[in-house]
Amino acid sequence: MVKIILGALLCSMLSASTLASSKTDWWEDASFYQIYPRSWKDSDGNGIGDLNGITEKLDYLKEIGMTATWLSPIFQSPMADNGYDISNFTNIDPIFGTLEDFDALLKKAKSIGLKVILDFVPNHSSVECEWFQKSVNREDGYDDFYVWEDGKDDPMNPGKKLPPSNWISIFGGSMWEWNEKRQQFYLHQFLKEQPDFNFRNPKVHTEMLEVLKFWLDRGVDGFRIDAVPHMYEKVFENGTYPDEPLSGATNNSDSQYYLRHIYTQAQYETVEVLYEWRDFLENYKKQNGGDSRVILAEAYAEINTLVQYFGNGTHYGAHLPFNFNFAAVSELLNARTFQMVVSSWMDTMWKTHKMANWVVGNHDLQRVASRVGDDLKDLVNVLIASLPGATITYYGEEIGMINVEYECPNCGDDQTRNFNRSPFQWDDGISAGFSTSTNTWLPIAENYKENNVKVQRGIARSTLNVFKSSQRLKHTAAFKEFKDDDGFSYGALNDNVFQVIRGNKTGEYRILANFGNKIENVGPLFGTVMEDATDTFEYTLVTSHSPHRIGEKVKLSEVYMMPFEACVLKKIGNNSANTSY
Ligand code: NOJ
Repeated sequence: MVKIILGALLCSMLSASTLASSKTDWWEDASFYQIYPRSWKDSDGNGIGDLNGITEKLDYLKEIGMTATWLSPIFQSPMADNGYDISNFTNIDPIFGTLEDFDALLKKAKSIGLKVILDFVPNHSSVECEWFQKSVNREDGYDDFYVWEDGKDDPMNPGKKLPPSNWISIFGGSMWEWNEKRQQFYLHQFLKEQPDFNFRNPKVHTEMLEVLKFWLDRGVDGFRIDAVPHMYEKVFENGTYPDEPLSGATNNSDSQYYLRHIYTQAQYETVEVLYEWRDFLENYKKQNGGDSRVILAEAYAEINTLVQYFGNGTHYGAHLPFNFNFAAVSELLNARTFQMVVSSWMDTMWKTHKMANWVVGNHDLQRVASRVGDDLKDLVNVLIASLPGATITYYGEEIGMINVEYECPNCGDDQTRNFNRSPFQWDDGISAGFSTSTNTWLPIAENYKENNVKVQRGIARSTLNVFKSSQRLKHTAAFKEFKDDDGFSYGALNDNVFQVIRGNKTGEYRILANFGNKIENVGPLFGTVMEDATDTFEYTLVTSHSPHRIGEKVKLSEVYMMPFEACVLKKIGNNSANTSY
């Protein structure tokens, strides 16, 4: 801890002066909220969430301090993968509404100063997409629009073909599917209903830019790009595809974990595509004015790859390659593991690019309360908001929603993925206020009567109110000093207690979280090394596990913490400005 703070202080002498004048663009410390449109608000009573429902409830995002929202796919789709299989990239699926409904949503968002980010799925389409049908029929211009290959002769079955390589799709089974009509295999990194585009074909690039332009012209503020590392696959000069080596991680030869994906993920060409899209967005801004349009990149990849996706100092790609470090930690969450989560980003991406973001959950991850334990959900929300950079909150994490399990015999792997997509709990009425129908597309959590927005608004230290206070703090002056290293330091004080220090010139805050199930005498942990151990602080944020009251004064040397307590202390006296939040 001491090392980290002192190190940060030394570094700051160099970097604070150079960076103090660099202006922060909106996305750098934005509060993103991911809406899963099927599950957020149903306006027409068919049990499925839709665009008009979102528009109706958009003010709620301002209430909880969000500055931008990212909508999971709303495009025309047969829904083999819940909308990540798009059949028309420039139209809205009727279950969500119409283009006019989308325009109305954007208009409302702009009127309240909320940015809207769309999901962009460039790796693949649906098999029902017109482009794929044209490609199957080898129509002019579409012959090589997808990745097609003859396959290998099957020595056991003369006249039959075997897949071109041993590649296994993310959802299991061969990544190659035979197409009777074209008499070739096509590649699909995900479901067989999701054929991969061929990014070695310039026409694919052109069409993708057209898609981006279509939505930019309607007024969106950026894109979350799906499955970035999957866009290219290795192909040898003679046109063959190399087998991937075994990983040794599992004996299940149908599982994606069976192979090491050295030829199907994070290929070097991907970076160029991100640069191309970034240039396109920058030019669009130059020509049309307005704020930056941004790229959020979904990439489960090594940090070195993510650094490349961000940029190399000359060229830039994704503004925010998602940081999934926190998502990788589950029941082992404590002060030390949290420190690893933070430093693995700060020591790399932050060091080189002064960019950070923190993904708390998403539609592919288990709910935080189910993943790390109900007692820790508030700590996570408080700590994430205390870090520099952008936060990305999945709907429902602000009220501590849990996984909702249900029987779905035909769902396969999809079943567990759906556990985290249950309808949002607005109130204690019919279907938790999500829909007027009791027949919702997924079951509502049984705890909705006690756990919903309406109830939590009325409880002072509810998860929702703690979330709101943390987000308010994130947008105060002291937390905005986030590019100056002397405005930020962090570290585990012991195995259980984690501390973040924010602010310097505009007030100082200590964010403390006790991950452990015992009382911690924190004062001595600050110890003699901290010059301000005897300074007085004031509690400005407390969680339900805290015995303290807001406004209560304490000397650092006398701080103690209850099990699972999180709190924020503000330094009072000459050093602190009167920051209101
Ligand atoms: C990542 C998305 O988050 C996931 O839900 C989807 O199935 C795959 N990409 C394929 O598009």
